[in-house]
Amino acid sequence: MRFLVTLLLAAGMTVCAQDAPKQDAPKKGGGGPPKNLKILKPEEVRPMMGAFNAALGTASAGGCNFCHAPDRSSDENPKKVTARKMIEMVNHLNASFPDGKVHITCYTCHRGKAQPETAPPPAQ
Ligand code: HEC
Ligand code: HEC
Repeated sequence: MRFLVTLLLAAGMTVCAQDAPKQDAPKKGGGGPPKNLKILKPEEVRPMMGAFNAALGTASAGGCNFCHAPDRSSDENPKKVTARKMIEMVNHLNASFPDGKVHITCYTCHRGKAQPETAPPPAQ
């Protein structure tokens, strides 16, 4: 939960802005309880997914389908498997801080891009 709250804070404005078009909202009747959660709690899924889109900038790159096959329970999209490993990594990183607070979120590295930059841009 601690992780969720900070992630949402980090995603902040973008999450709200992206709520407007609703084009990525799950289709009516397609819902039902999650069947394949390995890390998240069911109540974390909805807010967390929007936060992922915001942190990775994937709202404009297929949105939910960037990570998901049409059946969201399926693990057949490799991006979903990567994302799950990233959640574990982020939890692990935060557990390494001595003060027990959340310092690392998806946005810390991704900054609105699917592929984080690992080197600074060339000097002007
Ligand atoms: C960056 C990748 C990523 C994006 C983007 C993403 N998801 Fe997910 N989603 C995941 C991962 C990873 C899980 C599994 C989490 C776990 O195992 O605890 C998941 C799980 C789910 C589940 C639960 C499925 C089940 O039955 O277990 C639903 C529903 C879902 N996502 C909906 C969405 C929706 C709707 C969007 C778009 C708003 C979205 N996701 C965007 C990565 C993503
Ligand atoms: C410590 C930095 C860091 C953090 C924090 C982080 N990532 Fe990543 N992520 C990366 C790097 C670096 C790559 C690119 C890896 C590569 O090129 O193979 C990546 C790649 C990905 C990809 C694959 C993108 C693609 O285009 O194939 C997904 C999906 C992803 N991350 C999801 C997440 C999610 C969701 C979170 C938060 C739970 C997260 N990441 C947090 C560093 C990070």
